[in-house]
Amino acid sequence: MLQKPIPLFLSSCFFALVSAQTPTHRNVSIDDQSPLIDYVPRTSWSLTDAGDWDAGEGRAHMVTNDADAYATFRFIGVAFYYYSALWPYRVGTGIRVDGGPVTVIDQQDHDSAPTAENQGPSVRAQVLSSVTGLSNSEHTIQILPPPGYGVAVVDFFM
Ligand SMILES: *[C@@H]1O[C@H](CO)[C@@H](O)[C@H](O)[C@H]1NC(C)=O
Repeated sequence: MLQKPIPLFLSSCFFALVSAQTPTHRNVSIDDQSPLIDYVPRTSWSLTDAGDWDAGEGRAHMVTNDADAYATFRFIGVAFYYYSALWPYRVGTGIRVDGGPVTVIDQQDHDSAPTAENQGPSVRAQVLSSVTGLSNSEHTIQILPPPGYGVAVVDFFM
């Protein structure tokens, strides 16, 4: 049987389709005031004054000291990065991925001598926790005061 050659036009279309489907990952910045972050209850969370320690456009972060409060962020993607400053005293925020166990993100600057707890940060915001290798589907991140700490911080996500 005689095979018709595939017209060049069709084969280049096919190539374009295949390359468009190649997964390419890019980082998306989510600052603390993003409407994609749900603060529950909203009244338990407050926005700090702007300072050079925090990440994002706003240069501030959200904080709660309500043990029952939490923040929820849903996204479709393969990785999640949590950014925050460090403080020269004991600070820790809880993170729960897809309803799993709560892990504590240590936000204490262990290189500085401990100060009173009303002092500002001592290290600029950086990646303190990363969740990688997720399936490319919807994931839910919950940020909450972990047991034994009493605060939770939301500054910047990637
Ligand atoms: C996204 O940002 C994280 C944290 O800074 C970095 O490790 C990662 O390589 C970045 N990924 C891409 C695709 O740019």
